[in-house]
Amino acid sequence: MNRKRSVLSALLALSLVCAACGIRTNLAPEAEEDLIVVGMCQVGAESDWRVANSESMKTVFTEENGYRLLFDDARQKQENQISAVRKFIQQQVDYIVLMPISESGWDSVLQEAKEAEIPVILVDRMVDVADEELYAAHVGSDFRREGAQAVQWIETACPETEDPVRIIHIQGTLGSTAQLGRTAALEEAVARHDSWELLSQLDGDFTQAKTYEVLTEYLSGLPAGQEIDVVYCENDNEAFGAIQALEENGYACGKDSVKVITFDATRNALLECMKGKIALAVECNPLLGPMVERVIQTIEAGQVPVKHHYVEERTFTAGELTEEIIQQREY
Ligand code: AHR
Repeated sequence: MNRKRSVLSALLALSLVCAACGIRTNLAPEAEEDLIVVGMCQVGAESDWRVANSESMKTVFTEENGYRLLFDDARQKQENQISAVRKFIQQQVDYIVLMPISESGWDSVLQEAKEAEIPVILVDRMVDVADEELYAAHVGSDFRREGAQAVQWIETACPETEDPVRIIHIQGTLGSTAQLGRTAALEEAVARHDSWELLSQLDGDFTQAKTYEVLTEYLSGLPAGQEIDVVYCENDNEAFGAIQALEENGYACGKDSVKVITFDATRNALLECMKGKIALAVECNPLLGPMVERVIQTIEAGQVPVKHHYVEERTFTAGELTEEIIQQREY
């Protein structure tokens, strides 16, 4: 029996003594001692993807499945995540599941978790730490590959001619793995193609509101008649904000006008893609709960989990989408 569960057993024994003496306690039923306690540090609720990701975790880590989930929403602040990890260490949880906001700044607190012998499982994004042993496993997407898929699509849709390919790039939360991977793929492609012109890089922070705000401001400063070929948005919510800003400023979105590219491919984005407003949706799968549970079960069985687990992902264009695909979309 692990440390946390032995603490819970001791508390349970105490509660039985109290019950025998007629003293009431708030301790949970007998089954409580067998629950695996998971402390989860989520980024926030900045996007539809994130909400689906939290739902996936909450669906898997239930008491019926043998878990007690302590869920923390960091409201997009790394300092909140670091405090949550420290609190989980104090509470002696069995596992810490961390969706890190950005890659840097994790060495000390993950070292504290390691010293407390609590396995940390990274979900979605990665951390940039000197010692790989500071986390047990990582479950998420290959963001660089996602970016490469988007770049490949632009190469086909905008073949190299005399005409420039004018690109606006809306970045996600700066320093996050999703931003770093998707940005690197685009920047490398811009460096490779003489005709690709990066008009601007704007910080959309993965949200619809911020993207609408920064893009509206940028467009209002452009000379009349400025052509835009591609708007590369690093997630769906940014794409929704971008489409609104573009249309309000007289730009049409579509495969023969401004080509809006997005990442995530949630149901609402697929709908916009089927309508033709999003030219390409690159999938980023948020339903990671079952994979995280498999990692925990591997550790529970006394085995060492595979270090990196990547989810299968695809791309969508209008021609490939059907009502049926959209109906079946779980997020
Ligand atoms: O890290 C995954 C990214 O974070 C998703 O693309 C985005 O929607 C979320 O906020």
